[in-house]
Amino acid sequence: MTFLYKTATSLMRTLPAETAHRTTIKALKAGLGPMTAKKPDPILATNVGGLALTNPVGLAPGFDKDAEVPDAMLGAGFGFVECGTVTPRPQGGNPRPRLFRLPEDKAVINRMGFNNSGLDIFRKRLERRRENGGIVGANLGANKDSDDRVADYVTGLSALWGLADYFTINISSPNTPGLRDLQAADAMDDLLGRIQEARAELTGDNPSTPIFLKVAPDLRLDQVERITQQARTYGMNAIIVSNTTIDRPESLKSAHKDEGGGLSGAPLFKKSTRMLKEFAAAADGRIDLIGVGGISSGGEAYAKIRAGAKAVQLYSALVYAGPGLVMDIRSDLARRLKADGFNSIEEASAA
Ligand SMILES: Cc1cc2nc3c(=O)[nH]c(=O)nc-3n(C[C@H](O)[C@H](O)[C@H](O)COP(=O)(O)O)c2cc1C
Repeated sequence: MTFLYKTATSLMRTLPAETAHRTTIKALKAGLGPMTAKKPDPILATNVGGLALTNPVGLAPGFDKDAEVPDAMLGAGFGFVECGTVTPRPQGGNPRPRLFRLPEDKAVINRMGFNNSGLDIFRKRLERRRENGGIVGANLGANKDSDDRVADYVTGLSALWGLADYFTINISSPNTPGLRDLQAADAMDDLLGRIQEARAELTGDNPSTPIFLKVAPDLRLDQVERITQQARTYGMNAIIVSNTTIDRPESLKSAHKDEGGGLSGAPLFKKSTRMLKEFAAAADGRIDLIGVGGISSGGEAYAKIRAGAKAVQLYSALVYAGPGLVMDIRSDLARRLKADGFNSIEEASAA
């Protein structure tokens, strides 16, 4: 079976990147994904921002923008799956080509621009799977042509409340012009204030659904401190560090290195992990962190945890390694935790 998936992943690399992605989603929808009956090692259990996970390795958003295959990806061994980014109205995104593989760099550049089918379809899909169990999050964004982008996040929250196990407020995609300006102090006060109000109404007397904030890796230290403080003030439950970078490191070799958009995969690892450490110092244990960016092995997942994350996510490495990677990361991570004498992810993250 492993051989089959490896062959399929190599074949996929001969197709244009976006066609390969669409083909993969169709295959997963048809039930052709890997299914692992294996329960995670108990040492991998973690709690992040109020979410209890049986293993800390999550699927980052962008892979399943329209919530088509969350159960297949949970079946592949991910401890949680974040669908989206979803915007209130469907939108086509940027013109193609807009997704590029950088094989020599084990990286990806994308300028998809929040192409997605919109909230109605997303909601129906979550409704259909609601009894299936597993942790599925919804990553919320704003329409490119929206007059009130903050209202778009509130619309997403209200439409999906009760159907997602957590929400992520994505203000860090580089591909919707002006979106990352929502990371500025005043804009964040407005955004997080309105989300807090909406959340209080939606929650009533029930336990609230966790809400996370996803940030860019291209931030200054003073912004890190201020964003951490604001996230806490407005009751965010965790910060996800990070989205793709607009930087282009000198080391890039591949033909597509100068394409516009966000860079992810191996060349993002160092930068996003450094940023995670800065957030960990600013948070000082008062708000949880999820580490994302360039993870393709158990060693890298472990490095994010040692940098202060209580869970991790990945996407780009799947393009090169295929879905069997998740199980390898899980077992390597468990081995590393034990080898260093830790009893839990939480212990390793706080050490
Ligand atoms: C093709 C592609 C599409 C993405 N789309 C989204 C998205 O819609 N929303 C989001 O928050 N992040 C999106 N991301 C960013 C990833 O979720 C992740 O933060 C980033 O790629 C770093 O992780 P990685 O190096 O493991 O890929 C996308 C990434 C890629 C490669």
